[in-house]
Amino acid sequence: MKDQLEKLKKEVLQKLNAVKDIKVLRDLEIQILGRKGELTTVLRQLSDLSIEQRKNIGSAANDLKMELAEKFRQAAEKLDSEKKNDFVDLTLPGVGIKCGHLHPLTMIQNELEDIFSSLGFMILEGPELESDYFNFEALNITKHHPARDMQDTFYVNQKNKAGEYDLVMRTHTSPVQVRAMQKYGAPLRCVVPGRCFRSEATDVRHEHTLNQIEGLMIDKDISWADMKGVMEVVVQRLFGPKTKLRMRPKFYPFVEPGNNGEITCFICKGAGCRVCKQSGWLEIVGSGMVHPNVLRAGGVDPKIYQGFAFGFGLDRLTMQKYNISDVRLLNGGDLRFLEQF
Ligand code: PHE
Repeated sequence: MKDQLEKLKKEVLQKLNAVKDIKVLRDLEIQILGRKGELTTVLRQLSDLSIEQRKNIGSAANDLKMELAEKFRQAAEKLDSEKKNDFVDLTLPGVGIKCGHLHPLTMIQNELEDIFSSLGFMILEGPELESDYFNFEALNITKHHPARDMQDTFYVNQKNKAGEYDLVMRTHTSPVQVRAMQKYGAPLRCVVPGRCFRSEATDVRHEHTLNQIEGLMIDKDISWADMKGVMEVVVQRLFGPKTKLRMRPKFYPFVEPGNNGEITCFICKGAGCRVCKQSGWLEIVGSGMVHPNVLRAGGVDPKIYQGFAFGFGLDRLTMQKYNISDVRLLNGGDLRFLEQF
């Protein structure tokens, strides 16, 4: 009889699993637990047994009855809740799908990469954690050169075998000039977008993490006019053919002569505002003819080749293009700002 109970239990559980309809469930319940149901019939047969057996099997049968009753209750509950979930209210507003997009800095970087590719420049990258040698030394900035003060460097707190601190977070993308010359030799045309780092007090125009795009063109017979021409093409393609570019002398140890390229301020259109420090012009690029020492560091013979180099501030260009008046918004992660692009 015990086997009979076991078999019945197995069958019922199997059927319960398959039931999809509340009416079928109720019928099944009656068929098993009802007054004339299968389990009830088994229980009736108990009277034919000895007292010992009756005690034993009787309690097992009762337990089974309770267990099955509970299972039926749960199955009914489940069917019931499934039915409720079936209801679709077509008048409810839909759920919006969140969709990401490119950061404004990335958009400008892509645009510049396209412009420079069309002029025959290849696109390179370099390490953000840089050696003192490439960031300074190879760029004609010797150990105690005052020009190191121009770039508030983050030195990395780790000594090399000689006991010197020789790792820095690169302060500009210029180290890749030398890396590129060493790797590809001359003639060479390349641009290098990337993040740079400076220990600065931040304000509307300064950030500790900044983005530059470096450029280098090396060939025979390259002149200062070639440089101005390339710069002009680039800013006019970016900001429109009316954009004015002016070049003023500026000292950078790795170029001679060195310049600052400035374009008319986008916010005040030349009238003067806090973004352009009331000057009407915005400094967006440092440039110059590559210093012979830098060519030599790159393994290029300055008697045969010359070239120009430049470094655009990508953050400034992005601010200009999208009328952003505070550079800190770019890395701020504020979605109210980012969602506007
Ligand atoms: N590396 C310079 C800077 O960070 C920019 C520059 C690049 C100037 C190339 C001249 C030539 O400001």
